[in-house]
Amino acid sequence: MSHDSEPQALTASPGGPLRGALRPPGDKSISHRAMILGLLAIGETRVEGLLEGDDVLRTAAAVRALGATVERQGEGRWRIAGVGIGGLSDPDGVLDFGNAGTGSRLMMGVVGGQPVTATFDGDASLRKRPMRRILDPLLQMGTQVVAQAENGRVPLTLRGPAEAIPITYESPVASAQIKSAVLFAGLNAPGTTTVIEAAASRDHTERMLRLFGAEVVSTPHGPEGHGRAVALTGQPTLRGTDVVVPADPSSAAFPLVAALIVPGSEVTIEGVMMNPLRTGLITTLIEMGADIERLREREEGGETVADLRVRASRLTGVDVPATRAPAMIDEYPVLAVAAAFASGTTRMNGLHELRVKESDRLAAVADGLKANGVAHLVDGDDLVVHGDGTPPEGGGLVATHLDHRIAMAFLVMGLAARTPVSVDDGAMIATSFPSFRADMQALGAEIAE
Ligand code: S3P
Repeated sequence: MSHDSEPQALTASPGGPLRGALRPPGDKSISHRAMILGLLAIGETRVEGLLEGDDVLRTAAAVRALGATVERQGEGRWRIAGVGIGGLSDPDGVLDFGNAGTGSRLMMGVVGGQPVTATFDGDASLRKRPMRRILDPLLQMGTQVVAQAENGRVPLTLRGPAEAIPITYESPVASAQIKSAVLFAGLNAPGTTTVIEAAASRDHTERMLRLFGAEVVSTPHGPEGHGRAVALTGQPTLRGTDVVVPADPSSAAFPLVAALIVPGSEVTIEGVMMNPLRTGLITTLIEMGADIERLREREEGGETVADLRVRASRLTGVDVPATRAPAMIDEYPVLAVAAAFASGTTRMNGLHELRVKESDRLAAVADGLKANGVAHLVDGDDLVVHGDGTPPEGGGLVATHLDHRIAMAFLVMGLAARTPVSVDDGAMIATSFPSFRADMQALGAEIAE
């Protein structure tokens, strides 16, 4: 999916209860990292359950362009023969990351720390997203920005040094993308690279670096210990390994909320990763009164996973603290949809980072709520949604601005609103959840072109 794909309007209509089971695709964050660490490791990495969405396929193409051998061996099964830290080659062409903020930013860290030159580009959405947050620490580590679009945006060209400079970087934003880019650059630094964040962001990079053989120490930071100082010992030998990718909680969020709001539904969502830095939505929905049971908790790929049994529930509005934002940053669009069906007011605090996602998600959600007759207010960086416990009117056409999560969130709304909800373009759903429509239809949802 990219700037050249055709828009695909979709409409979701209210219907009978959703019933059955599904396993969402592999986690997008882990899938990107498995590919990248496969490149930087010596020997073979085998991945099972990889998300074969467009975002990750772009990262796979970049990994290949930088010198690794990448083979698809079956559905979700991939093999990467890595080149090791310092073994990358200059890619022949531009690295086109399509819609993928994570893939592009993480790979900027890789290229920025190694003696290679590469040009990064993407679709109209990626070209609007801020990259200075990545370039600022990389410049301190010795990366040269050879060319850039206005204000550090893509297309941009980076040239890394022979060895990166180890730094201690206090990140202005709690962002796993910034943290990961600095740590990836620090892999080629002679010394310790430390990233300090005021609130803990998802820790998949730290966990996977350890799995591949690096030494990474994470300690609580700040007065209340909400933050982290993450220290990586540079120039490790990374060894290829096996990676099992659990199901993506950010994709599970859509059938989960659908099952809560479509009356009479009961759905089991299987194999969902329960990393506590990713489960803010589940915590919030349970506070709202959602009937979500965690079944068969087990370990998969170094993460706890569970099957979630979800039953349609009466929801009540709650206050969502800003400190929870990093653990549910991608889930606010669908939480806003759940809030539209709840009784009372839901206040989502501290959403400034939503303005720089695949779209300005705060504005896109507010516009979508407005188009469907949901009372709401954007109050500075907070989103306030008022529900009266009955389904919203619906009937709106929602502008998705090349954002997969806006498209899926409002299609979920259409399954339980009074009248159908349309999105102007569902093509981008393939970036993270290619089987969304088929999986939802299998549960009984009506989603049509
Ligand atoms: C991601 C981190 C988050 C998230 C994105 C995936 C990652 O971004 O929104 O979808 O895999 O590191 P930030 O860390 O910049 O908030």
